[in-house]
Amino acid sequence: MGHDLVIVANRLPVDRVNDERGRSTWRRSPGGLVSAIEPVMRAHDGVWIGWPGGTSQRLKPLTIDGLHLVPLSMSEEEIEEHYEGFSNGTLWPLYHDVVAKPEFHREWWDTYVKVNRRFAERAAELAAEGATVWVHDYQLQLVPQMLRDLRPDLRIGFYLHIPFPPAELFQQLPWRRQILEGLLGADLVGFQLPGAAQNFIRLVRQRVGHKTHRDLVYLPDGRTVRAAAYPISIDAAGFEDLARDAAVEERARGIREALGDPRKIFLGIDRLDYTKGIHARLRAFGELIRDGELSVEDAVFVQVAVPSRERVEHYRNLRDDIELLVGRINGDLGRIGRPAISYLHTSYPREEMAALYRAADVMVVTPYRDGMNLVAKEYVACRVDDDGALVLSEFAGAAEELRQAWLVNPYDMNGMKAALLEAYEAEPKELSRRMKAMRKQIAQHDVKAWADSFMTELEDEAHHGHTKT
Ligand code: G6P
Repeated sequence: MGHDLVIVANRLPVDRVNDERGRSTWRRSPGGLVSAIEPVMRAHDGVWIGWPGGTSQRLKPLTIDGLHLVPLSMSEEEIEEHYEGFSNGTLWPLYHDVVAKPEFHREWWDTYVKVNRRFAERAAELAAEGATVWVHDYQLQLVPQMLRDLRPDLRIGFYLHIPFPPAELFQQLPWRRQILEGLLGADLVGFQLPGAAQNFIRLVRQRVGHKTHRDLVYLPDGRTVRAAAYPISIDAAGFEDLARDAAVEERARGIREALGDPRKIFLGIDRLDYTKGIHARLRAFGELIRDGELSVEDAVFVQVAVPSRERVEHYRNLRDDIELLVGRINGDLGRIGRPAISYLHTSYPREEMAALYRAADVMVVTPYRDGMNLVAKEYVACRVDDDGALVLSEFAGAAEELRQAWLVNPYDMNGMKAALLEAYEAEPKELSRRMKAMRKQIAQHDVKAWADSFMTELEDEAHHGHTKT
């Protein structure tokens, strides 16, 4: 029979993990992608193909909380070369402004191709005649063309959740042409920001030699591909409800109390990733205390660092660097019972996140480069009393929408210190003016609006594309 909607993403929305007794169970995985796609899946009764994490072999399709999931296993070598290697050692740093140095290895590429092909084959098996297949993110950029070769009847969309780099950087990639051709298998290629879509169109013109006009690419076989921006968002109403929940409010008070009821709480929540600028923001905060602008009696910085990609070298080094810095700042500036930074290397369920957002006076989001950053949007959605300040990097996609945040350049230490201080000292009226405007933006552009606009455009585009062939 097949499914009318197939989601293809590197990860399933759950991980296969072992509990304390060594039994294997399912657990929700971290990261923005999952929370963004889930509502679309439910609405269309779709099926989701993805890697369940780890090396578990031959798992059967399953249904969890009403979501139809098809696990696709990876061998140890595939995890090392496709996931940790090419996806997170090559593409991730390359697409994030080469914040870290990308590594180029031919074996990694070969395995990336092999794993992409497996995803494409599985999607081809599961899709009904004329179905829509929505492929996600940088780990699977070859899937659209592979799938089109197998199943020309399908409507294929691709969405990149991370930035798409300018030609000057993308050009470094030895397999740049293959990646572009892989993406061109889709009818619609979606990006976070218009600049990314323009980078892609320009590269297709220069490197592949296809004709382009505005957001359209004209292929020699008569098919057209559209490349445009669809800024992703969150389930704003869901977060708002959670934030208003009595248990969450109570927990938020509990958090403040446990921190010694400081005048103000600064908060950072990130996957432990070198693109997030965690080090820079903690240093800025530490300097403000050292300079006497802030004191540990009045202010504390809660930094939640969610473990991520721990076997990739850059990530291991990053953890050491950050933990060294936290230890130093607390050692130099903390008092008994009053650390400057409360650091947690863990992940939390949504309820605890909402309580943290409610407890925090200043949310600090300072990536060097970020496709969107949903944490910034989640904070805004949870500020149901129109208070709280958001300090946000200009280099996060979210900065194009959340203009009323205190926008900072994370490379500019003094600029960042000044913004942290301003946000800390802002009058309630000022906070409310800014927060109201940002809340309005988020309420109007939630994840449902995002998915609807992508799906609607995909249906139109595929229709136009096919009538030309
Ligand atoms: C980002 C990426 C996702 C990824 C997530 C978590 O949000 O865009 O594709 O799933 O990070 O990273 P991980 O490597 O654990 O899947």
